[in-house]
Amino acid sequence: MQRWHSLVYSRVLWLMFFLTLIGVLLVLMLIVKGEPELVPPPADAPYKNAALPVDLRVEDLLSRMTLKEKIGQMALIEKNSVKATEDIATYGLGGLLSGSGAKPADTSPEGWHNMVTGYLEASESSRLSIPLLYGSDAIHGHGHVLGATVFPHAIGLGATGDEVLLEAVGRATAKEVAATGINWNYAPNLDLPRDIRWGRVYEAFGDDSLLVTRLGAAYTRGLLSGDEPMVASLKHFVGLGDMAWNSSTNKNFKIDQGATTDGEAALRTTYLPPYKAAIAAGAQSVMVGLNTWDGTKIAANKYLITDVLKGELGFKGFVVSDWYGVYEIPGGDFVATVKAVNAGVDMVMLPFAYEAFVRDLTWAVRLGLVPEARIDDAVSRILRVKFAEGLFDREPATFAPEVIGSKEHRALAREAVAKSLVVLKNEGNVLPINPTVRSIRVAGSAADNVGMQSGAWTVEWQGIDGSWLPQSTSILAGIKARAGSGVAVEYDGAGNFKNSAQKAALGIAVVGETPYAEGWGDREYPILSDADLAAIARLKESSERVVVIIISGRPLLVTGEVAKWDALVAAWLPGSEGAGVADVLFGATPFTGRLPLPWHAYAEQLPVNANGQTANGTSLLYARGFGL
Ligand code: BGC
Repeated sequence: MQRWHSLVYSRVLWLMFFLTLIGVLLVLMLIVKGEPELVPPPADAPYKNAALPVDLRVEDLLSRMTLKEKIGQMALIEKNSVKATEDIATYGLGGLLSGSGAKPADTSPEGWHNMVTGYLEASESSRLSIPLLYGSDAIHGHGHVLGATVFPHAIGLGATGDEVLLEAVGRATAKEVAATGINWNYAPNLDLPRDIRWGRVYEAFGDDSLLVTRLGAAYTRGLLSGDEPMVASLKHFVGLGDMAWNSSTNKNFKIDQGATTDGEAALRTTYLPPYKAAIAAGAQSVMVGLNTWDGTKIAANKYLITDVLKGELGFKGFVVSDWYGVYEIPGGDFVATVKAVNAGVDMVMLPFAYEAFVRDLTWAVRLGLVPEARIDDAVSRILRVKFAEGLFDREPATFAPEVIGSKEHRALAREAVAKSLVVLKNEGNVLPINPTVRSIRVAGSAADNVGMQSGAWTVEWQGIDGSWLPQSTSILAGIKARAGSGVAVEYDGAGNFKNSAQKAALGIAVVGETPYAEGWGDREYPILSDADLAAIARLKESSERVVVIIISGRPLLVTGEVAKWDALVAAWLPGSEGAGVADVLFGATPFTGRLPLPWHAYAEQLPVNANGQTANGTSLLYARGFGL
């Protein structure tokens, strides 16, 4: 009897076990259910009809997309990380980018055009033929392309304070970018650098919210004013520029990728106005920074991205994360992906492993961790921009070599250089150079160095020190041309001149920083090099009077030196048209530039607050807005 009972009992147990197993298998099959058989959409699908309103086209296209295709649109990949060109269509990737320095094998403008249009064609061979966005950091002109016009970096443009000029620079940049087939520029930069030790000060127009609001909107208007498709990315949302020293989450950096703790009032009064204005000017994407805000990485900050940017500011474009920024969110790649997408990031600059991203996000949706409605919202935002820019309806841009580095654009850049110079000291009106001056000696590491005067984000991410950039004019060449044949111009970088006992009427020292980008430029003491200081000293011995021109991405600490110089000019990072410097030195163009941020006297004064007050209460060397 007992044996009979236990036999029945064990059979029931087995049955229950099998039923549970079948149940689990069924659930698993449901979760991993394959996509339905995919067929290309009909030729008359509404989304293909350019005459229909954008929202209707978005809705139609979205309704035809599988989850995998939707997630593909949310991926932004560095072009060298695409394993096979077919993957662009297989994964339906939303965007590719040339991470700084990622150029085609043929680095000519035509080589760029061929590469980008090749990728665009690949994207259009996908089932739904959704065209790619192709992005680049044309942050001071199309600087990664050899032969393009290299405009002054943003800090120099900030010193001009000139909205009309900024709009023209934006327009010229867009033309050169579009000529190579690229339809997305990661600019303008709306950061507010409060600490000159940061390696990205020069990427911003200045530290004054009002100035950045005016100039950011003007530049955006210019960038978007042409006929060609062009998407602007406002960056880096938000609070980038006021990270605390030693707060970086990157072990190689000190301040870049660090912690901003400015709070709600500063968010509203200082940081949001530039975004509001540039969004009103038509900017279609916003890039979130790699910093933290009140302890949370911005890419995971739902309040800032969804509530403030998309909600309060009513931003209808898409939000893109910065380079690998999503995976900087603590918790591992899967958790980070879930957090970022739920926070409101629409496109993820992964920028490497797309397979893993598609897998992670697919599971996150199937497990209910990311609502499908959030995916639909993200993809709709991306598609809306692609439709609005006409990417679905037009042939890729034909190669237009004539605009790249054109005479007109170079003249504009030269004008921008001239307007960006700020005279900080001018004892006895040594400037503009008197026509009676018949002998000039030029020295310093940056005098004949277009690499230094262009700074980083020029062909390579970190820039290239030296005289290598083709079709550009060094400051020395500009000085020689302006001086003309009646003036003897001698040059020695180190300031070693023959007959130095016989003094020249004027010495011009062009000194400054070698190129750097991002956290690699974080410096505890931004100062002149010993070699440059020695060159200035030698020049002083061999010249009656000395003008010092500083080529740098930020104010340098020169308090101990400036008394020895007759004149001091901040020339920032002027770019390829060094002749603009001589235009002002020789009085052909007036000095009009003003400091777009305070110039510190000592490192102990850092950081300076929004009102220009130093950390230790001592006086600045020159206040923001100063310029003789
Ligand atoms: C920078 C961004 C840039 C991106 C793509 C990042 O390292 O922070 O400003 O747009 O790279 O090159």
